[in-house]
Amino acid sequence: MKVKNLTVIHGPNLNLLGKREPQHYGSVSLEEINSQLSSKAENANVSIEIFQSNSESDIVSKIQNLKSDFIIINPAAFTHSSVSIRDALSAMKIPFIEVHLSNVFAREAFRKESFFSDLAVGVISGLGAEGYIAAFNFAINVK
Ligand code: DQA
Repeated sequence: MKVKNLTVIHGPNLNLLGKREPQHYGSVSLEEINSQLSSKAENANVSIEIFQSNSESDIVSKIQNLKSDFIIINPAAFTHSSVSIRDALSAMKIPFIEVHLSNVFAREAFRKESFFSDLAVGVISGLGAEGYIAAFNFAINVK
């Protein structure tokens, strides 16, 4: 096991997963994603904290106070707008994977721009909820 303390951060509107534009984001709820991650973490003996917020400042404060050694983050709409979340990740120097449920490169032009990708260990986009599992497996097996 590589990572021992993992934090998963979900950005704005991801609390609506399952009901929200299923053609883009699928039918799996956030609770289902979180419980799958939690049980995988328990099996792997990894401590996991999962946080969702619709507020940019709450996400910045959360990142500033993290003690974890790896982050999986779906910044959602903040991907395309937030210098402050980028700067918090950069300041904390905690490695992270950027996850998107939808393939952001197959959608509107503004979604192709990310304030995070150049800092990320890697980016997963378009694999739906499986993207979180792939990121988790990387964190515990490879990182
Ligand atoms: C998203 C893609 C973003 O463009 C969008 O604003 C989201 C979700 C995704 O998971 O596909 O809210 O990050």
